[in-house]
Amino acid sequence: MTTVGFIGAGKVTQALVKGLLSSGAVTPSRIYASSKTEMSLQKLKVFGVNTCLDNTWTVKNSNITVLAVKPLVYPKILHEIAPAVGPNNLIISVAAGVTIKSIEQRLPHHAKVARAMLNTAVQIRDGAICYSTGRNVADADQELIHRFFSSVGLTLEGEEKHLDAVVGLSGSAPAYFYLILEALSDAGVRHGLSRDVSTRHASQAMLGAARMVLESGRHPGELKDEVCSPGGVTIDAIYSMEKAGVRAAMMDAVDACIRRNYELARLNE
Ligand SMILES: NC(=O)c1ccc[n+]([C@@H]2O[C@H](COP(=O)([O-])OP(=O)(O)OC[C@H]3O[C@@H](n4cnc5c(N)ncnc54)[C@H](OP(=O)(O)O)[C@@H]3O)[C@@H](O)[C@H]2O)c1
Repeated sequence: MTTVGFIGAGKVTQALVKGLLSSGAVTPSRIYASSKTEMSLQKLKVFGVNTCLDNTWTVKNSNITVLAVKPLVYPKILHEIAPAVGPNNLIISVAAGVTIKSIEQRLPHHAKVARAMLNTAVQIRDGAICYSTGRNVADADQELIHRFFSSVGLTLEGEEKHLDAVVGLSGSAPAYFYLILEALSDAGVRHGLSRDVSTRHASQAMLGAARMVLESGRHPGELKDEVCSPGGVTIDAIYSMEKAGVRAAMMDAVDACIRRNYELARLNE
């Protein structure tokens, strides 16, 4: 059975650990995690995983090591773990904006590196994950990476240049959708629904719509048209949304996210 390591004990590590354990893909005794302080490790200890303050210990004990630290800490961490990275270690980065090349340059020549973008819904095994692999990743390694991420969500392999777009879509999208859900919930409250009923209705509608798109494979515009009866109530709502520029606002939000991702990448080169 695979052993999995995490460097960093923050939100992403906690979400992945929760998802992996609930999937049964890994047991707590096969998870190794290190972080900067004992305080940040406390949040992982509740899962019964192995913890330590030494990042090289994590790499030495793991087949797969996930680097889940902020992009600005990467140079320091890579310098630290480089001597421990052997030809069988798979190093997976989840940081926005840090390229595979910039990681490979700081690790031994044999290092097997992959880069993934994911979102925090991995904790309920409903994540959206996209990954790319570096020069030394063989087919068997790729299968392992794919199985690893598939246990916590929809997993697609893609070219690294497309990961930036994924950052702006699925990576940050939970925040966009929470904002929209909050607004819909407010609208329900304005019209007399309780907060709880309002939020649950809006959330289920969002979930149902997303599942309709994924399960039917149809274009969202086509599904939208089906809900809009001629002269009906929904097309009036759509007209209001179009007048308010919702479509362009969403596209601008993704642009802003991708732009920031490039800025972070430049800081790391
Ligand atoms: N949040 C998201 O939804 C999301 C989604 C996709 C990708 N990402 C990427 O995933 C990475 C982690 O994000 P996050 O949200 O989990 O960040 P976070 O909550 O801030 O966690 C970062 C962790 O790194 C630890 N750390 C800092 N310096 C360290 C060192 N020298 N050695 C070991 N650990 C160290 C921190 O410990 P202390 O707390 O003790 O400082 C903390 O536990 C980021 O690069 C981010 O771009 C995030």
